[in-house]
Amino acid sequence: MLRTEPESECRAVTDPFSKCRLPEEFEAPARAGCYPFYLPVEERPGGGEVVVGGRRVLMAGSNDYLALSGDPRVTEAAAEALRRLGAGNSGSRALNGTLELHRTLEAELAAFLGHEAAMVVSTGYQANLTLSALFGPRDVLFADRHIHASLIDAARLGQAPMRRYRHNDMGQLARLLEEADPEAGAMVLTEGMFSVGGDLSDLPGIVKLAARHGARVVLDSAHDAGLLGPGGRGAAEHHGLQPAVDVQTVTFSKCFGTLGGAVAGPRHVVEYLRHSARPALFSASLPPSCTAAALAALGIIRAEPERRRAVMSAAERLRSGLVALGFAIPPGGTPTVSLRMGNALACCRFWAGLLEEGVLANVMLPPSVPGESALIRLSVTAAHTGGQVDRILGAVASVADRLGAAEGR
Ligand SMILES: Cc1ncc(COP(=O)(O)O)c(C=O)c1O
Repeated sequence: MLRTEPESECRAVTDPFSKCRLPEEFEAPARAGCYPFYLPVEERPGGGEVVVGGRRVLMAGSNDYLALSGDPRVTEAAAEALRRLGAGNSGSRALNGTLELHRTLEAELAAFLGHEAAMVVSTGYQANLTLSALFGPRDVLFADRHIHASLIDAARLGQAPMRRYRHNDMGQLARLLEEADPEAGAMVLTEGMFSVGGDLSDLPGIVKLAARHGARVVLDSAHDAGLLGPGGRGAAEHHGLQPAVDVQTVTFSKCFGTLGGAVAGPRHVVEYLRHSARPALFSASLPPSCTAAALAALGIIRAEPERRRAVMSAAERLRSGLVALGFAIPPGGTPTVSLRMGNALACCRFWAGLLEEGVLANVMLPPSVPGESALIRLSVTAAHTGGQVDRILGAVASVADRLGAAEGR
């Protein structure tokens, strides 16, 4: 609707749409022809490749770490559920939208992750948002500076104050816990594997400090469930600390190759969330296709550890190749790694250079990353061959030589 001029005798208010301008870090790459966001993928032929702009390129920015999104067992399970149960549930879990499939997936997930119970919701973001019911105004949260936006939003929704500690800085976490109000319920929030840097949280340090102060540990395993640990149960299993994690969230959009998420923890906590978490209570439930896909993926995650070995070996090749090219990358051994770029525009030029070379990476700008950082995020999956990883490395080397935009090299 066109905004009419306010009548002259009335006191005019500000147009709320006046703020709707893109910041310069998005405008500048658009002007320079290297805008990296919302690029439409036309086809997914598999084998670590996608088609964009009519060209087959290497996908080097996907979180489909185990390459399950196109696995015929997963897609067939989704198709069968779609045919049998329809395209959507048209209701919330609490009212008419709970399927027997949801309950089966919850039971299997809880057993897999080593928790008493689990609640399936519609995205990983929503899984974290449901925690807002647990993050009340009389609690205090201690959170790593690099935690995901969805956990920060959950704290905002729950009105719980959040004290941030420097990334993996256990000294600072110890001091913050020391100063905590003993009347407040304390929870430490972390990711198992950090989404942007691909490094692991210091879970052993966190668990030790939390136990000392009687704080609860909340772990977002979005990127590590399915990937890390001998059984693929995530970062907690990797560290041998599964029983020490009080509440764990997972997403199905990464290792599970579909969409959806879950919160797992003690039965009474999960039941409490089922009945009080507004982001789930007032939103439609996960469709049959995604639920069945996640269930099929979970079966494969359990049965095929070789997928984890394949992606970890591609990760090792990528990481050692980047180090050989002179990049300073954080340790971690995971399939995700980020390269620091000078600024947003330099980063987008680097991204466009990679695409020209046939490699599709991710650009991470604030608010996805803290401060002024601009990062190229690369990730590999179980579908990538050694030769493909070498092509990614070759493209990075050639663009870095041509543009010289990368820092820490
Ligand atoms: C650490 C972390 N938590 C939660 C989410 C949200 O998951 P989803 O995209 O499945 O909603 C993401 C997604 O990128 C993530 O990286």
